[in-house]
Amino acid sequence: MTNSTRKYVSVSADFPGPRTRELLEQRRRYVSSGVGNTTPIFVRQARGALLTDVDGNAFLDFAGAIGSLNVGHCPPEVVEAVRHQTEQYIHACFHAAMYEPYVALAEKLAAITPGHYPKKTVLLSSGAEAVENAVKIARKFTGKPGIVSFARGFHGRTLLGMSLTGKVKPYKFRMGPFAPATYKAPYPYPLHRPAGMTEEQYADFCVASFEEFLLTEAAPEELAAVILEPVQGEGGFIVPPAAFVRGVYDICRAYGILFIADEIQTGFGRTGELFASTHFGIEPDLITLSKSLAAGVPISAVTGRAEIMDAPSPGEIGGTYGGSPLGCAAALAVIEKIERENLAGRAREIGEAIRGFFTALQREFPMIAEVRGLGAMCALEFLEPETRKPLKAFAAELIRTCYESGVVLMGAGIHANVVRFLTPLVITDDQLREGLEIIAESMAKVAAKEIAASGYRGGGTS
Ligand SMILES: Cc1ncc(COP(=O)(O)O)c(C=O)c1O
Repeated sequence: MTNSTRKYVSVSADFPGPRTRELLEQRRRYVSSGVGNTTPIFVRQARGALLTDVDGNAFLDFAGAIGSLNVGHCPPEVVEAVRHQTEQYIHACFHAAMYEPYVALAEKLAAITPGHYPKKTVLLSSGAEAVENAVKIARKFTGKPGIVSFARGFHGRTLLGMSLTGKVKPYKFRMGPFAPATYKAPYPYPLHRPAGMTEEQYADFCVASFEEFLLTEAAPEELAAVILEPVQGEGGFIVPPAAFVRGVYDICRAYGILFIADEIQTGFGRTGELFASTHFGIEPDLITLSKSLAAGVPISAVTGRAEIMDAPSPGEIGGTYGGSPLGCAAALAVIEKIERENLAGRAREIGEAIRGFFTALQREFPMIAEVRGLGAMCALEFLEPETRKPLKAFAAELIRTCYESGVVLMGAGIHANVVRFLTPLVITDDQLREGLEIIAESMAKVAAKEIAASGYRGGGTS
């Protein structure tokens, strides 16, 4: 399929275009270079799974604002809910004058999150803020300081978020010292398990490693909480063995350590269940939510057992913009849409389509070491076939080539050799197919360049 025969994507001959070039220069002069960006697009308009840039180029969005757009760009119900809200009032600050959408969203989150017990919620503005508050609440409730997170995990860019994050560059390099009483435990990486170990043995090995960690690094009696991504996001879309998640959960129960599920990236249908915790049969004490909660309107939440959520005294949690009326209105419309259209079910279909498509290509592209994922949270990991070295440059070049061909993609993983898919769950079959074809064609181009450069397919780029 050539560019001109494509139905959704169109990229002009003078790509990226004059206005984009002007804005890139303006950005270079006025925006901190510390603010990263993977695809140099300036958006003019976006709908569903499609983005149009300021020069009129049309892209298929397979990054979905890093997983914030499970319901797609600008669903009419959400736009209408936000418009209606702006006509009533834009902000009142819950600490000053309360409003109904906050309470309605708290009630809804209590109903849909895993766990059959009374729950309460605090609403905030960003994912990192939700993580910060979950930790504050856990410490206040338990009276203990220690917080365990996991290697390769990502929990945000605030001081505590960085402290809990398990990837140094670019997130915490020369940004320390970090928050005390934070510990990193090992997290499974099934693709890289020791040779000869079965998946079952590996799960037991990982639980044993966690038990050993509690002997060598942090005494359970001093721990307030464990915070775990049920599927690692930024870390590379790594799906841990269910027995590991259950094992950690059971150990937490045995020692009275609170279990916090960070579902900021996994939540709201992405993995084929409304929340990924459900796949593992766990009921977290606290759950952190943001991203796809409100289709891009900034809002986040900590929802959990009522008695834990009531541990802080009035005024100890919250914030001026926490649970803004616009965020609440958007979130209520988003959740309604996810439920009505069964977008979790759609995530399973999308995931099967993506995994089936790339699994069939593994013979042709042996650098695809693994096609993995849960529901529509899918990824490809690239390794040099013989040496098993991470192919970071291959993944970067693939993302660049896809962007130039009209598909927005993002990378992941500590070696940046993973490409992740976060398509809106409202993407049509036709759009998905066109995007996947473009990615496959781009992969062929990058692989050909690699062969020319190195003499063997995919080699020597890490
Ligand atoms: C699992 C997880 N936790 C926390 C965060 C931080 O969210 P935010 O960027 O909104 O602060 C992210 C963001 O990618 C995330 O994926």
